[in-house]
Amino acid sequence: MGHGIIILGSTGSIGRNALRVIEALGPEYEVVGLSAHSSVELLAEQTRRYKPRFVAVTNAEFAARFRTLVAGLGVEILTGPDSLTEMVRIEGVDTVLTAVVGAAGLPSALATVQCGKRLAVANKEPLAIAGELLTKAARENGGMLLPVDSEHSAIFQAMQSGSTAEVRRILLTGSGGPFRGAAREELQEVTVKQALNHPTWEMGPKITIDSATLMNKALEIIEARWLFDVPVQKIEVLIHPESIVHSLVEFVDGSLIAQLGHPDMCLPIQYALTYPRRVEGLSPPLRLEDVGRLHFEKPDPDTFRALTLAYEVARAGGTAPVVFNAANEAAVEHFLAGRIRFLQIMDLVEHCLHNHEVRHTTSVEGLLEADAWARREVADRLQRTAERATS
Ligand SMILES: NC(=O)c1ccc[n+]([C@@H]2O[C@H](COP(=O)([O-])OP(=O)(O)OC[C@H]3O[C@@H](n4cnc5c(N)ncnc54)[C@H](OP(=O)(O)O)[C@@H]3O)[C@@H](O)[C@H]2O)c1
Repeated sequence: MGHGIIILGSTGSIGRNALRVIEALGPEYEVVGLSAHSSVELLAEQTRRYKPRFVAVTNAEFAARFRTLVAGLGVEILTGPDSLTEMVRIEGVDTVLTAVVGAAGLPSALATVQCGKRLAVANKEPLAIAGELLTKAARENGGMLLPVDSEHSAIFQAMQSGSTAEVRRILLTGSGGPFRGAAREELQEVTVKQALNHPTWEMGPKITIDSATLMNKALEIIEARWLFDVPVQKIEVLIHPESIVHSLVEFVDGSLIAQLGHPDMCLPIQYALTYPRRVEGLSPPLRLEDVGRLHFEKPDPDTFRALTLAYEVARAGGTAPVVFNAANEAAVEHFLAGRIRFLQIMDLVEHCLHNHEVRHTTSVEGLLEADAWARREVADRLQRTAERATS
């Protein structure tokens, strides 16, 4: 039987890799829908090549340009922020791969599992902020969450060696990013270019900055808590600069089960699409004799405060992870635009968390309200600082 697949965020780093994977998998896997936010030239190219039935342009300002680019191709075009939720509901689709960036992916992720489909999750922010809501909706409606993040794919594979009750610890590996080993003071003057220079992975700009602050690892701790239904205190971060061991699970008998591979997203993307099958793919075999040595060390929580905050917000629950994520999204945007310094990213996140009164809600509206509050708080705080500087 064939598989109908939608890729949300097909113009991004994960989205482009996913299209290569699907092409290599052959005609059994059909691209039914694609989406982009603003890269409409690339989306038009993808539309010509993969011939999806539906295409969504989430930033409506770019819709007219896109229509012109694909005139005569007979594709159905959906536009605006709600177009993703509309597209994931169409018939003839069994898997939605969500590769959009940020909390913006929450409504479409929820709609996917609510209609009992498989959600291949690259877009980790919705799981980090609304893990309870998404996992419950999947359970109640026969949907399924499959990890695409390389670490969570590794954990998912290692978990097949035992039961959740038999897990002693999950060891979530991370390269440590471009500033591994640096003291906090040394990061004062870090430039955008330095922060975007990731040692092992090629990714979109937001996740690359998150990898430099270790916010990416922080979001992954919460993501793992929900995907694998384990308490956060059982999840530990292990720095592994080579990015070969993608994560490990320690069982109660002391066995450590790991998954290894090149730092290449094609393998976890493919496994999420073909699970429970394994098929030959694009990733070359890993030769450990060529790798030679692997290194592991503890993370430095003083320099990378996001890690400590992750455990705190996961324990607090409710709207705390929402504020943690939204403040970071807003701060990273300011950093990428050259308006704030690197260390201010986490300062702003901490400021928002300290000024937020956690509410225990799992309604989408309640969560999005907290998200909007944090983004406003970041903007207000920066404005107040700028006013003080000029007065
Ligand atoms: N890259 C990796 O290796 C990697 C690994 C693990 C997990 N992830 C996760 O996967 C997600 C995507 O990462 P990425 O590196 O592929 O990011 P990316 O290269 O920046 O791509 C993001 C995609 O989302 C679209 N998009 C941007 N803003 C949007 C919005 N408001 N609404 C809907 N779509 C929007 C973009 O469209 P335009 O191109 O038109 O702007 C693009 O297609 C992130 O959550 C990230 O944490 C990535």
